[in-house]
Amino acid sequence: LPDEAELRADIVRLRAENNAVILAHNYQRPEVQGIADFVGDSLGLSRMAARTDADVIVFAGVHFMAETAAILNPEKTVLLPDLRAGCSLADTVTAQGIRDWKAKNPGGLVVTYVNTTADVKAVSDYCCTSGNAVQIVQSLPEGVPILFAPDRFLAAHVIRETGRQMDVWDGACHVHEAIRPEDVQGQQAAYPDAELLIHPECGCSSRILSAIPDLQLYSTEGMIGRAKTSAAQEFIVVTETGMVTRLEHDVPDKTFIPVSRTACCEYMKMITLENIRDSLLNLQPRVTVPEDIRAQALKPIERMLAIG
Ligand code: 13P
Ligand code: SF4
Repeated sequence: LPDEAELRADIVRLRAENNAVILAHNYQRPEVQGIADFVGDSLGLSRMAARTDADVIVFAGVHFMAETAAILNPEKTVLLPDLRAGCSLADTVTAQGIRDWKAKNPGGLVVTYVNTTADVKAVSDYCCTSGNAVQIVQSLPEGVPILFAPDRFLAAHVIRETGRQMDVWDGACHVHEAIRPEDVQGQQAAYPDAELLIHPECGCSSRILSAIPDLQLYSTEGMIGRAKTSAAQEFIVVTETGMVTRLEHDVPDKTFIPVSRTACCEYMKMITLENIRDSLLNLQPRVTVPEDIRAQALKPIERMLAIG
């Protein structure tokens, strides 16, 4: 295996030669977060993808995120260093599924989480991320049916926060769904002074919330903001384990305890320094979206970026 310092030097050189930018999600491996130009949540990454003037975007994340960057930047080369980096949540819904759902609910507005394929975005009215889902739903006109897909736990959070009625798709992320209330309670018993940072995709959130009704839930980026401003010194991080890397980096004077070491997204971890280097060397594998789908999928993303 090549030396890590050598790999990093190659990436830095190839990034400059190709006028490339490396965007990494908060769940990426520590060494990948370390080489990235920008590390953030899905919303922050979409915003960066919309405004970058680089010619090449290397997406250290999963396929739907690279697709979102390609939708926003048809003229740029978007690289996903391992095309197998998918998403179990995005896999729970298809464009045909949304079309059938709309046919059964005429006049309904479809709000889809950014964790969906370009095909699904193309038949959606609005996109949202965990960072702005509440704001997006609040902005919709009263009295219009809302169809929310695909994450049922994020949907429950949005319904709680907005009081709006929504029809909800029955999807979930396998990593967040598997985090049990008992995992949270076990860590609370071990670290009684720690504050909880819970992501709304978590399966445990509804039961934990019924015990602590004023508890806030946070997108991955929201966790950074909360950890910085909270008086607490210790935090139990109830999401994918990569988040602990980002929190430790940005808030070095505080302690972060993962809820469970097994809350690990194997798709996110498929991106490595080796395949980032190779992708910059070969300008492959690329993620592209057919123009007709791209034009349709851009609308809900632009509506989202305009609102929140
Ligand atoms: P956010 O980064 O938007 O909080 O989403 C988490 C996630 O699961 C992305 O795959
Ligand atoms: Fe998808 Fe879950 Fe992995 Fe996020 S953590 S990319 S929602 S499978």
